[in-house]
Order: sequence, then C-alpha cells, then structure tokens
Amino acid sequence: MKYLCYDKTQLMRFFLLGLLEVLVITLKAQHKTYSVGAISAAHPLAVEAGVEMLRRGGNAIDAAVAVHFALAAVYQVAGNIAGGGFAVVHIPEGQVLALDFRETAPMAATADMYLDSNGKPIKRASLDGAPSVGIPGTVAGMKMLHDSLGCVSWQECLQPAIELAKGHKLTKYMADHWNNNAKEMLRINGQLPSFLNLYVPFKEGDWLVQTELAETLESIAVFGSDSFYLGTFAQQMAEFLKSKGGRHTHEDFALYRALWRKPQLISYRGYSIYTMPLPSAGGIGLHQFLKMAELLCFNRVKPYTVKYAHFFAEMAKRVYADRQRYLGDPMAVDQIEIQKIQSEKYLKSRAASISKRRITPSDELGASQSGKIESFQTTHYCTADSSGLIVSITTTLNGYFGSKLYYKGMFFNNEMDDFSTAPGHSNQFGLPYSEVNKVRPGHRMLSSMSPTIVVKDGKPIAALGTPGGSTIITNVFQVIELMIRGWGLQSAIDQKKLHAQWLPEDLIVEKGALTPKKLRKLSRMGYNVQEIEQIGIFNGIEIQDKKMIPAADFHRKGNSAAGGL
Ligand code: GLY
Repeated sequence: MKYLCYDKTQLMRFFLLGLLEVLVITLKAQHKTYSVGAISAAHPLAVEAGVEMLRRGGNAIDAAVAVHFALAAVYQVAGNIAGGGFAVVHIPEGQVLALDFRETAPMAATADMYLDSNGKPIKRASLDGAPSVGIPGTVAGMKMLHDSLGCVSWQECLQPAIELAKGHKLTKYMADHWNNNAKEMLRINGQLPSFLNLYVPFKEGDWLVQTELAETLESIAVFGSDSFYLGTFAQQMAEFLKSKGGRHTHEDFALYRALWRKPQLISYRGYSIYTMPLPSAGGIGLHQFLKMAELLCFNRVKPYTVKYAHFFAEMAKRVYADRQRYLGDPMAVDQIEIQKIQSEKYLKSRAASISKRRITPSDELGASQSGKIESFQTTHYCTADSSGLIVSITTTLNGYFGSKLYYKGMFFNNEMDDFSTAPGHSNQFGLPYSEVNKVRPGHRMLSSMSPTIVVKDGKPIAALGTPGGSTIITNVFQVIELMIRGWGLQSAIDQKKLHAQWLPEDLIVEKGALTPKKLRKLSRMGYNVQEIEQIGIFNGIEIQDKKMIPAADFHRKGNSAAGGL
C-alpha cells in the first residue's frame, strides 16, 4: 500500500502539512457565541434563512423549517422536498422528542421487485429513477414540527426558500455537484432541467434560477402538506412516477404519516445522549458502541493510537454485525432480540470478546458477504434558541440528488436502496443483505441517520449530526466520545475520523488520522486499511449556560456554515 513506502522527506512533508492543517482549522473555526438563537447547516444561504426566522421573532423550529426548505433550493445534492429524515428536539420543559419522517415503500412494493426472473439483482434498479423512490416524508415532517412547536407562520418559514429558488449564486461546491451529475440526470430523465446545460458547465458565482421549484414551494407554502399528499399535486406525482416505471399510487401519498417516536436514551459516563430509535440503526448502534466503550474504559485509550483504532474497529464490527441480524422497521423486528442486544449482560459478553491484539474475523460475528462503500450523501443541521428549544435534524435523498429523477423542481429520493433488496448483495454503503430489512409494503427502510442531543445534569450541552451513510454511527460515536473527554464540540468535530462496519472488512481512515508507522502496524495486525480524503460533514451547536456556539466542519470539503443572533 502507498503509505508503506514513505521516505524521510515525505514524512517531513506529512508533518508540515499536518501543522498547516491545524493552523487553517484554528483560523477557520468560528467559535462565535449567540444568545438569541444559533444555526449550523451545510450551506451559508440556508443558515441565513434560519437567522431570518430568528430576526422575525421565530423560534428554533421556525428556523429549522426555513433551513430545511432553503437547503432544498441551494443544496439540492442532499437538501430536499421529496426526501425524508429524522428530527430530535429538546423542548424548553426538558423533554426530548423524536420525529420520524423517513420515506416508506409503496404499498405495491415487493421483496423481489429488484430481482430479474432468474432471481439476480437488476443493476442499479434500487438506485436510479422511479423504482428507487420511497414515498417522501419531508413535507409531512416539517409540517408536523411546525404545527407542534412553530411560532411564526408556515408561509413565512418557506419564504426564504422561495426567494432562493427564484435566484441565488452558486458556490463552487454546488457548481461541481451539478456538473458532475448532469450526465446521469440526462440519462435518467431523458432531458435536463431547463437551467442545466451539459455543454456549458456551471461555475462558482453563476446565478441559478429554479422557476419550477419556486412554484412547488409556493404551493406547499399556501396549501401546506395537504397539497403534497392529498391534492392534485400528489395525484400528478404518483402518475409521473408510474409513467417512469414506479409502483407508486395516489393512495401511497395519502397514507403517508410522519410519526413521533420515543427517542433512544443512552447513559454514558454521566451524560444522557438522546438520539433516533428504529427505523434508524443509529440509536441502538450508538447504545451498543457507547456501552462497550464504557465497559472497556475506552476513554482512557489515547486517541489515534494503534490501540484506539483497534478497539474502535472491534466495537464497530460488533455493532454492525448486530445491525445486519436484528435491525429494520419497528414493525418487522423481533422486540425480544432488540431488548437482548441492548442488555448489559449481552454487551458485557460482546465487550469481553474483544482481544487487545487479535482482530475478530467477521464471520465469527455472523454470515460473510462483502461490499464496497460508494456514496456518503445526506445532510445535517441544528438550530437552537434561548428558550431551550433545540433541533437536530438529519435529512437525505440517499444518493447524490437521490434517484436523480427530476419533477417540478424537486429531485426524488432513492431511499429504496436502504432496504436489503437482493439476497447475497450489499447496498451502496456496503451494508450486507438482511432479512429483517427486506422490502415490505408501507415499511420504512433501515437508516443510519443519527441526529443527537447531549444532556448533562438535565441541561442540553450539544446538538450534532453528520451525513455519511453507514459512517454516520461510527462518526457520531467518535465526536460524542471525544467531546465527553472534554475536547469541546468544535475540536471533536475537527478531529480525523475512522470507520469500520463488520463488512466490508476494512478499516477506513481519513487521510492524516494515523501516522504511516501506525498504519503499517495496523496492516501487520491484519487490518485492510484504506485511507480516504474525507468522512462526513458535521454540523452541531454547543450550549454553555444560555450561550449557543455553533460548530461545523468548516475545514472539510463542503459549504458548512454557522450563524445566529
Ligand atoms: N440514506 C442513508 C441513511 O438513511 O442511512
């Protein structure tokens, strides 16, 4: 492997680049403090939309709704109307709520819908175009949040997004995403949205006008979620999807509901961590991860040592092996097994089976099958206000621009790929087939999205989350674990990330996380180490007394931004 043959000059370069990177991080980290409200999101214009709600006297929910729809206009690669997500909300009275607006399979969906007549998977059928689309949950989710806790009008919350759809300046990051995906959009749609031209690529600063999107947003602003799920618009979406090979009906839209769920509560070293329960694998995964970490006194292991990477990978392997065997839509799982895999007795035995030196072969933890992690797209945002209302939302289209199927300004998700669609085959995150997560009509596909709020002595101290598909759980674990060691949210976010997930049997590390010597040592232990440029794009808010300090991946690739009043 490349890192095995660094010479002295390269090592010096590695050291100097590392030093430079730390300086850049320090300069870029904002550490600004706000007392009225704060926002952290994946695009500065979406942050501005949230801040505008605070200026108008809105609360953290109003800001979150404004951020969400603004992301659909300026961060179309993952921001969405026709996607879904999860919200974890801390209310001023101290309670924490969890809202599930995950997509559902159409009622005509079947477990074999992505297989040909020989039982073989049809290439990219669960990833491209109408067959890959789940019934979107975003509009129902946003409306539910707003109806429950919002204070300025729904129309006002959507206004910034409407203005942004009418025109805004492209960032380099988004110009590149449009250019990189235009060809696939053409293949899937047969034509491109009128603002996109294959032969005249976008550049930074170009003015993007999305007239159809502005009209769709206006209709949602005026008619609320009814127009999206019950009216002519729903009928037209279903007919469009059907004409493109989907199994969607008007009834599927009418049947869609966002659901309040009991959040997953994890006690870790005196902190209460609230995150998303099933259909996210994040809640149970983080519970298992943090409990094993506590049992192994992982907080005493020096970060970014060989021992740290090894223990981290061993815990992750166990979390992902159980994910494959037991987790899925709450209606499909065996509740007795779900209780068992979270019990102290079980986690003690799992932690005790971790050896200091030996790597556990994956097939000792379950059946073997491997895949490759391909895509990391989704987005996270947080809002908070001085009343103690804090919102942590992870939302997704799944792939870049989802299914890339474009309709009336929106891209439809390709969330059906988060189901296990073909026995013996992995999905785009390399997650292996799982019977409990197979396609069932009306069910929600298993997710990794883990919007989280951390509470200490009854007071919220942080909200956080990240995109990254299957890497979300390992990375939320890392940030929480480092933060609770006392690193502060921003510096925990700034640290390099590691990832492992049982299958594929790789230890994935962000470039620079471990020195060449440590990488060599891990290789000698038997790890198949892969260095990659970037894992995740965190957004969060740290809360100290009544002060809100937004944090974000300012130095990683992306458009992350923060602001407030
Ligand atoms: N679509 C990625 C996830 O939900 O985990």
